[in-house]
Amino acid sequence: MTLNNGQAASLSWLEATDLLELVEVLNSVVREKTYLLMDQEITDLDSEPEWFEKSRAAGMRDLVAKVDGKIVGAASMSVFKGKQAHVAEFAIYIAKGFRNCGLGTILINELIEVARKSGVKIIQISAFSTNKRAVHVYKKCGFKECGKLTNDVKFIDGTYADRILMELLLP
Ligand SMILES: CC(C)(COP(=O)(O)OP(=O)(O)OC[C@H]1O[C@@H](n2cnc3c(N)ncnc32)[C@H](O)[C@@H]1OP(=O)(O)O)[C@@H](O)C(=O)NCCC(=O)NCCS
Repeated sequence: MTLNNGQAASLSWLEATDLLELVEVLNSVVREKTYLLMDQEITDLDSEPEWFEKSRAAGMRDLVAKVDGKIVGAASMSVFKGKQAHVAEFAIYIAKGFRNCGLGTILINELIEVARKSGVKIIQISAFSTNKRAVHVYKKCGFKECGKLTNDVKFIDGTYADRILMELLLP
């Protein structure tokens, strides 16, 4: 597919061989300290293959976006178990420099279709109230705000943000 900036991108399911490269992209977003609840970079790279096997066995799926064969972002879908087996949670991150090119929208829409086909009825996602772009993209993909956690996050500069809870009901 072609991004808004003219670059060609491809999507694929995460493979064990992608793990170290993906962790570096995730760590780069963690270092920005702006968008993710996750605070600490992943440093124990030896345990990544085990995480990969466990998360796959638990039903987590990661869709990876590549530009020029290099990973630039990913979106994940975790389907809950038991009484919430019809509910999935999404998460997404795109490397700085590859944002606002349409990739987030493509990844989310693609995962929504995967969720729909696998029988998921509700998709949940959340974003900091300061992350206007994320909220915009999720709304564009059909998510609706369904609540908020007031001052759920405190940044290192001492300011707070609410966490906006969003859901997409699949017919
Ligand atoms: C949030 C994120 C996944 C969105 O993906 P993306 O590839 O950048 O998004 P897209 O290019 O598909 O779409 C961006 C849209 O946001 C809009 N946008 C950009 N900045 C904006 C802002 N400050 N306020 C509102 N909308 C904004 C763009 O105009 C565009 O809208 P349009 O398609 O209607 O024209 C990505 O930016 C990202 O990973 N950010 C850092 C990590 C993060 O925030 N993860 C999500 C945590 S909840």
